[in-house]
Amino acid sequence: MDGMLDLLAKASYFIAAVLFIFGLKRMSSPVTARRGIQWAGIGMVLATLVTFVAPTTWGAHGIDPINLGLMLLAIALSGVFWLWGKKVPLTDMPQMVAIFNGMGGGSAAAIGAAALVTAAGHAGACDAAAMAAHACLDATKTTLAVLGALIGAVSFSGSVIAWAKLDGRMDKRYVFPAQQLVNAALMAGALICGVLLVLQPTPAMPVIALFFALALVVGIAMTLPIGGADMPVVISLYNALTGLAVAFEGYVLQNEALIIAGTVVGAAGMLLTQLMAKAMNRSLGNVLFGSFGAAGEAQAISGSQKPIEASDVAAMMAFAERVVIVPGYGMAVAQAQHKVWELTQALQRRGVQVKFAIHPVAGRMPGHMNVLLAEAGVPYDIIADMDDINPEFAITDVALVIGANDVVNPVAKTDPSSPIYGMPILDVEAARNVIVVKRGKGTGFAGIENALFYADNTRMLYGDASGAIAQLIAGMKELDGGGH
Ligand code: TAP
Repeated sequence: MDGMLDLLAKASYFIAAVLFIFGLKRMSSPVTARRGIQWAGIGMVLATLVTFVAPTTWGAHGIDPINLGLMLLAIALSGVFWLWGKKVPLTDMPQMVAIFNGMGGGSAAAIGAAALVTAAGHAGACDAAAMAAHACLDATKTTLAVLGALIGAVSFSGSVIAWAKLDGRMDKRYVFPAQQLVNAALMAGALICGVLLVLQPTPAMPVIALFFALALVVGIAMTLPIGGADMPVVISLYNALTGLAVAFEGYVLQNEALIIAGTVVGAAGMLLTQLMAKAMNRSLGNVLFGSFGAAGEAQAISGSQKPIEASDVAAMMAFAERVVIVPGYGMAVAQAQHKVWELTQALQRRGVQVKFAIHPVAGRMPGHMNVLLAEAGVPYDIIADMDDINPEFAITDVALVIGANDVVNPVAKTDPSSPIYGMPILDVEAARNVIVVKRGKGTGFAGIENALFYADNTRMLYGDASGAIAQLIAGMKELDGGGH
């Protein structure tokens, strides 16, 4: 019977892992992403259900009541988080991801802790039966349990700090002299404890305790000096680390679903982290150990910002052939995406070709703009990535920049002393006319002046994005009423 159940559990875990992989593949396009999430969700439900019948959950005298209680508690908790997730506004999504990610890392660390503590209390021989019952660990399992626990614990405490910063509960970068040295010493301490645990025939409890304490402090100490706006990159990194930790602990538990799911999350998270760092033209080391914007004297920008009335912008756009809309953080703050889509439709009715240009780090989290535009109902085929749209700005009549700043700043190409020098940007300045919607002279995330706003072909439409776009829609209606 046990053999049958074991086979059933292993087959189900394999199917779950396949669903995770195909689900992730589908998430790579906005058109199929929703279905991809559903597939991965079904995989997760299958993996959860099968754990109830897996032989490891059952002892010689039936199901272990502690295991059962913990599993039911985990399911109840996930129900609470499911309800919470449904209510969270999109702008608060990064902090929710931070918390979820922290729990993944914490779970991996807890598996490592349970394995090490059980091994510490195991008196008899570490034979095949003891190994199968997870009562003791061989050298490979101890090494992976220690590595997974270290990475998981760092990811857990680091994610909690990231959540506090993103949620505005901790708004400062905590920096003190020789911080990197202190962090390196803490990390070295945790690694020495980890090596001791691997080398000792039976792990010693005081070393286990010190190891976890140090690993948790490393996560906190590493995250404290990082600025709040860099947190999405850091969370993505912690996400990758959590995946790796889960894969390691999956090996300790000999659970194929955990090994495959962890590896997939680790690889995907690492790629996303690299993409985000590259789109901000920063190395990961610079995000983790440097500070944003440490640069010399910026080159002076000549010219002045020239305001324009909404009615003039409406006329300019109504009689244009091609319009490209560039959304940024300000559009997200103003929640103007629905009005932007309304304006787009009004332009399309007049035969104007409208496209959206998306910079990979526009906004404050990966895919921020894509999610907002999808929510408003903008079709995917008029949304273009930076590399595809950049050559088209030269043949664009009007580029409408809505609450974007750093991602359209030409100094990234011209001023080597600028903190964003080298960051790939949308070549908006090449358009015949540029209209920038923003409330005033506020800087963007990088805190620097934007040469685009002073260019001869740029006009500033001052106002909250939501109100300004409403004015443009009204202006279009007036033109339509005028019998064009
Ligand atoms: P930002 O450079 O942050 O500029 C946003 C602009 O929107 C500001 O200049 C602000 O000017 C304006 N604004 C704010 N509220 C507004 C409102 N209600 N109505 C109209 N305008 C408003 O945005 P961006 O161009 O999207 O660039 C994103 C930045 O974030 C980049 O520097 C990027 O490196 C960084 N970052 C992104 C990510 C990800 S993954 N997306 C992660 C970390 C960091 P006013 O105050 O004058 O209105």
